[in-house]
Amino acid sequence: MTKEIVINPITRIEGHAKVTIFLKEDEAVKEARFQVTDFRGFEKFCEGRPFYEMPSITARSCGICSVSHLIASAKACDVIVGVTPPATAVMLRRLMHMGQIIQSHALNFFHLAFPDLLLGMDADPAERNIFGLIEKHPDVAMQGIKLRKFGQELIEKVAGRRIHSSDWIIPGGGKWPFTKQNADYLLSKLPEALDITLKTIKLFKNCLQELEDEVQNFGNFPTYYLGLVTAKGGLEHYDGKIRIVDAEGKIVADQLDPAVYYEYIGEAVEPWSYMKFPYYKPLGYPDGAYRVGPLARLNVASHCGTPLADEELKEFKQLGKNGVVQSTFHYHYARLIEILFCLEGVKEILEEPDILSERVSSKAFVNNDQGVGVAEAPRGTLIHHYAVDPQGMIVWTNMIIATEHNNLAYNKAVTQVAKKYVKAKQLKEGMLNRVEAVIRAFDPCLSCATHAVGQMPLEVQLIDAEGKLVDRIFR
Ligand code: NI
Ligand code: MG
Repeated sequence: MTKEIVINPITRIEGHAKVTIFLKEDEAVKEARFQVTDFRGFEKFCEGRPFYEMPSITARSCGICSVSHLIASAKACDVIVGVTPPATAVMLRRLMHMGQIIQSHALNFFHLAFPDLLLGMDADPAERNIFGLIEKHPDVAMQGIKLRKFGQELIEKVAGRRIHSSDWIIPGGGKWPFTKQNADYLLSKLPEALDITLKTIKLFKNCLQELEDEVQNFGNFPTYYLGLVTAKGGLEHYDGKIRIVDAEGKIVADQLDPAVYYEYIGEAVEPWSYMKFPYYKPLGYPDGAYRVGPLARLNVASHCGTPLADEELKEFKQLGKNGVVQSTFHYHYARLIEILFCLEGVKEILEEPDILSERVSSKAFVNNDQGVGVAEAPRGTLIHHYAVDPQGMIVWTNMIIATEHNNLAYNKAVTQVAKKYVKAKQLKEGMLNRVEAVIRAFDPCLSCATHAVGQMPLEVQLIDAEGKLVDRIFR
């Protein structure tokens, strides 16, 4: 009798993980678990390094999220040296971070998720990938490549390199000023990126009619939502304070200081995963489960603050009760709205006269023995917390990675999708692909979340009522 199904690894996500589906006596799905089986080491091996090396060390934990780590890390270092970076440096950091969000969201949407949306959840897996997309919809694939390239160029023009651009960012600001030539170049490329984004939003909405069933059943459940907002409650990626809303849209906590995240965020541990389970402390574990990332940010924010994104946000908020959208499927929609918001924000910053100011760093050495830096990475709230000795050597670190915050929600989501679609008696590939697709909607980054040492496998397992493994799929 069938006991358990294993999907390993889950494909088209950043990093490696597996899903185990546990079955009841009658082979109906009992529960599913998203398991990350790797060991994280970064927090430990940073100890003993000088604090000013932290941005470039932690950026190496991931090739996709490197800029987000640079930002959170540099902000923690700003606190250690006790300075406020010059306004121009903040604008330039924001600019490269917007580039990061654009490139990362474009990667998830076009390369990882769009094959499911455009080619179908049940399409042949040999074609249901970026190569199949290039063959069937070459124009769409090309637009995805162009949009991602624009995000990468933004990073490159500010910081010198597209990936691991840690040469520029330093505690207190950045190393060199921006040039008019780079500003003009980026402004010339902006209209095309905007055009692609608006077209893609239309295309995505057209796909939705076909995917109504998935929208209803893909991790569609109540949780809390957590993210940074501006002082007025607007969408914020670089700075701001933390807001938490419940499934009904009620603000549970607002303008929480991210520097004391440990007062309200707890980190639980489960024996079956190396990824921790953050939760909102006042509600306890696991009741304090919340989601972060694009969906959560749009759920907590009352507005974006740029015209096109605000118009789209209004439509987005109509999908849920009191403006809170529960379906994990709509992380995709939220990602597109955030790209739009970033493109509009990029234009605003590039047109600021002060962007070319020569003053891009404030210099100082160790003035505080601790520093917390928080930013909204593409995947959600990213926290870096360092303690240093008087010489500025790291004595302790804690990082909470965006992907970790969603850990409780992943498990709820895979359970919901498995219960709805997986029929152990007539198992089909498309059923398991839906389990993978709900994970793709979250866009986890497991390299970041585990600070991988070595390889992380991903598999889906089907386990029976007596705990015996009955089927497994490795990727
Ligand atoms: Ni990452
Ligand atoms: Mg940690």
